[in-house]
Amino acid sequence: MIYLDNAATSFPKPEAVYQALDAFARQSLANPGRAGHKMALAAEHALDNARHLLNQFFRGDGPERFVFTLNGTDALNMAFKGVLADGDHIITTDLEHNSVSRPLRAMELAGRISLTRLRADGGGTLDPDAVRRAITPRTRLVALTHASNVVGTIQPVADVGRITRAHDLLFLVDAAQTAGVVPIDVRAMHIDLLAFPGHKSLLGPTGTGALHVGRRARVRAWREGGTGGDSASETQPTEYPYFLEGGTPNVLGVAGLSAGVQYVQEQGLERIHAHETALTERLWQRLEEIGGFEVFGHRDMSRRVGTISFRSEVLPAAELGGILDQAFDIAVRPGLHCAPYIHRALGTFPDGTVRVSPGPFSTEADIDRLAEALKEITAF
Ligand SMILES: Cc1ncc(COP(=O)(O)O)c(C=O)c1O
Repeated sequence: MIYLDNAATSFPKPEAVYQALDAFARQSLANPGRAGHKMALAAEHALDNARHLLNQFFRGDGPERFVFTLNGTDALNMAFKGVLADGDHIITTDLEHNSVSRPLRAMELAGRISLTRLRADGGGTLDPDAVRRAITPRTRLVALTHASNVVGTIQPVADVGRITRAHDLLFLVDAAQTAGVVPIDVRAMHIDLLAFPGHKSLLGPTGTGALHVGRRARVRAWREGGTGGDSASETQPTEYPYFLEGGTPNVLGVAGLSAGVQYVQEQGLERIHAHETALTERLWQRLEEIGGFEVFGHRDMSRRVGTISFRSEVLPAAELGGILDQAFDIAVRPGLHCAPYIHRALGTFPDGTVRVSPGPFSTEADIDRLAEALKEITAF
């Protein structure tokens, strides 16, 4: 199988991640606990170690401000449901994934919040000035994806961060498509809430993610339970990260995530970004040579991640994706990619596009094989 669906989850993982998972599962897979036995302490140490790594990696407000979650969606829900209050106005965009759009739309439909959804330009980029113009006296939060999971375009997060801070708003960034491949400095970019999965470009296993809760954000606990310490307290201890982390955490997954983050640090995220965007540019050139394809978004690779979306003049996306899988053993992602608003804006709703997303281990030969297959399929 040629796997080109890294925007959904990265595969394969670095060898060091498999080794870390295996070693941890065999030797240290206890329930973490601050006051427990040696194995419980070792498991707790694995969580602490990961929080330190993430804090360095994203220049966070402290390791304890990284709250582990099930995935990116869980982190986003924790933020929205923990921060927003009745009557708040929220600014968001048509680039967002359903894990941002749906919780916000549900709160809007319930009459709890009001929502402004800004449109990206034809190249797939948000104009920061549109954010400034949309601010009202009731605006509480701006929620923006760092890169579109459909067209791969990187958004001007630092510029929007300056605007939100100047107006004393909270700024939430969905870094699902950038964490591990585009530099993120939460303090310099004025990001109050950073939500990210661990299983995409941070190269950890599925079942991992985190929410960084900056010091300006007040989040209500919505998952209360055991914390491995402070058991006498009748309610959730207010100390971070335990305040937001009730229940047995995915300590095995987090041990794998640490190995993934270390791999990215060793390789250098700029290098991984350059590799992945070079492969998407190669595919773009091949598609032009073959003809009959429309590729979406601007072509400045320094402002894109390695994700490319296109449609064929002759075959719907779903059919193309199915043939690539069944006849050529190539995994791509056809459809709407959980992001219906941007597909409406592109004019690709409801069929969607074919999304190709190489990862750090994808090769030029993989892209050439895909291009040959596309040529063969669309020649009929
Ligand atoms: C932009 C974006 N946001 C959020 C998510 C949700 O992440 P997860 O699948 O880890 O819940 C995704 C996943 O594809 C995404 O691409």
